[in-house]
Amino acid sequence: PIDRKVDSVLNLMTLEEKIGQMNQYNGFWNVTGPAPKDGDAAIKYEHIKKGWVGSMLNVRGVKDVRALQKIAVEETRLRIPVIFGYDVIHGYKTISPIPLAEAASWDMEAIENSAAIAAAEAAASGLNWTFAPMVDVTRDARWGRVMEGSGEDTYLGSAIGVARVKGFQGDLGELNVAACVKHFAGYGFAESGRDYNTVDVNKNTLHNIILPPFKAAADAGALTFMNSFNDLDGIPATGNAYLQTEVLKKEWDFKGFVVSDWGSMGEMVNHGYAENLKQAAQFAANAGSDMDMESHGYVEYLAQLVKEGKVSEEKINDAARRILRVKFQLGLFDNPYKYCDEAREKATVGKKEFHDGVLDMAKKSIVLLKNENNVLPLKKQGQKIAVIGALATDKTSPLGSWRIGADDGTAVSVMEGLEQYKGNELVYAKGADVALGTPAFTVETKINMTDKSEFEAAVNAAKNADVVIMVLGEHGLQTGEGRSRTDLGLPGVQQELLETVHKTNPNIVLVLTNGRPLAITWADKNIPAIVEAWHLGTESGNAIAQVLYGDYNPSGKLPMSFPRVVGQMPLYYNHKSTGRPNYNGGDSVFWSHYTDESNDPLYPFGYGLSYTTFKYSNLRLSNKALNANGNITVSIDVTNTGKTDGKEVVQMYLQDLFGSVTRPVRELKGFELTEIKAGETKTVSFEINKKTIEFYTANNRWEAEPGDFKVYVGGDSKASLEAGFTYSN
Ligand code: IFM
Repeated sequence: PIDRKVDSVLNLMTLEEKIGQMNQYNGFWNVTGPAPKDGDAAIKYEHIKKGWVGSMLNVRGVKDVRALQKIAVEETRLRIPVIFGYDVIHGYKTISPIPLAEAASWDMEAIENSAAIAAAEAAASGLNWTFAPMVDVTRDARWGRVMEGSGEDTYLGSAIGVARVKGFQGDLGELNVAACVKHFAGYGFAESGRDYNTVDVNKNTLHNIILPPFKAAADAGALTFMNSFNDLDGIPATGNAYLQTEVLKKEWDFKGFVVSDWGSMGEMVNHGYAENLKQAAQFAANAGSDMDMESHGYVEYLAQLVKEGKVSEEKINDAARRILRVKFQLGLFDNPYKYCDEAREKATVGKKEFHDGVLDMAKKSIVLLKNENNVLPLKKQGQKIAVIGALATDKTSPLGSWRIGADDGTAVSVMEGLEQYKGNELVYAKGADVALGTPAFTVETKINMTDKSEFEAAVNAAKNADVVIMVLGEHGLQTGEGRSRTDLGLPGVQQELLETVHKTNPNIVLVLTNGRPLAITWADKNIPAIVEAWHLGTESGNAIAQVLYGDYNPSGKLPMSFPRVVGQMPLYYNHKSTGRPNYNGGDSVFWSHYTDESNDPLYPFGYGLSYTTFKYSNLRLSNKALNANGNITVSIDVTNTGKTDGKEVVQMYLQDLFGSVTRPVRELKGFELTEIKAGETKTVSFEINKKTIEFYTANNRWEAEPGDFKVYVGGDSKASLEAGFTYSN
């Protein structure tokens, strides 16, 4: 029935009106003020009235959305509502941890809930479409945008993509928004980790590693996709027909629409692919890019291109149909003001239960990297604690990157979190500045990056302290889009500060706040306790304090390998073997290795400690032979061998020993987050069937190949307990 409704609207539309649906503009004037008289704003305003604008981005808040929607539904010929998009990446006003941090929870229920909170606040503020989730698999921590994804693994990333789509979209009610799965495709593989750079991947990597999270999100019902800034196989993603038409719309039968990334149509000219914007519009439309975000290519040239026979009217119909369909699915045709209720906005944004939800998510995202001699949890009474680092008192940095709806200074700082524990005495010293990002998208300004004048005060604070908490790392705006780095150490003079304080008092708890894996090899060797606290959002300081004091037992596991040195990039656990692999314990120089550093990460994918310990034993398979209709149950006993109740992410990896194309040394194929009481043993089971072992083979399709497989189960990607089975058709 929806398709009938869509067609009934489409049949009334002129070519220009259909093309109008394919045009998205950025918010451009004070919508609730007088109509703009001249310049770009006046043109856009006129276009809205003509029905030449299908969507707006960056118009938010019920008042503004209502004002603009009113023009669309009262002043245009066909009264077609506009769809309002915004980057609600990890929260709108009440901010959740950055997505990379959430991924460290391995908790799909919590992640879905976090997305639902973000959706509720955004929808209550008039928005109906978020440009999330970003499901780009990422292997290179130099790329600042790793903070926005789920890390290096395809299987985990797929599960998280699905959870986030479900959380955002729910049942498409008034507190839900349409999801936009991005960036299709390959954006996470930017060469040298430099944002927007060219992507050079083979079809094996494309299909086995990059595309599955997109497919999973599409299958979960995501309503829209966004293409990408990069080229892939020499074709910019926005003009890439293979990706958008062949794979997404034909093979995967995706019924939603694809929006371009900001200006990416026009950027095809910079790529040296299209000669001018007109040709870029032609390439994009023919490739299946349905909506133009701010290139103005469609609105200016598409009608002409149709008349010249360079783009078929059928292409335009298909794109317009897809966009109208999503508007119907969101209920905008029934009620264009569905998202515009001032009272609901007031009652919803910043609700107490949302703060509770993001706090819960923040605690679950923390990863304990080291805890020698049980320095943690901290004693609650009688301790003198020195807190050092500019990031300890910062109330903006914890909000992280890509949180444009939130106001600066609205996060709970680490210091504020610690202050709630009254039994200890706190002394604070800044020690050193980090490079502070200025709000949102301006390039970071380097403030006192080399100033060591406050080292002495930090040393004095540490001198008589029982414990020193050092909060170091990246400012929230030092990661994210356009923030690639060549150095993965602690920025500025923070490393020097750490070493200086360590000479005075080595009893240090290092709390890292960062949006990407950092190379903290010195700290790992010398600092007794290290807590990975990412950028945890609005409730950051409360979450960190509760973990440091043991009121919450951390269970996070790394979604990306942490390197020893930046030169290891790209670094990931599911690499291929080589003809000359790095045999453990061998001493030949003719391995695939570095002469100055190990191949191994500092902390592997899937790694994370707890205040208790877990022992894995008794790995068993229900049988050793698998066929196309059968399955194998893998079981393992996990014992909590410590004195505290805790949660563990039990992980199962498979290795396909031989394939028609070379296979990774192991791949995550199952995980379960499970709570185990002190002293208790739990049996955790996983199912393996034909689907589990399928991959994109030399035949250019997904299939299971007969042969031998190894199964590894444990608490991280180095899991050593192993078993084997054979698959035959
Ligand atoms: O959603 C984003 C995208 O990820 C990067 N370019 C701009 C878009 C809209 O703000």
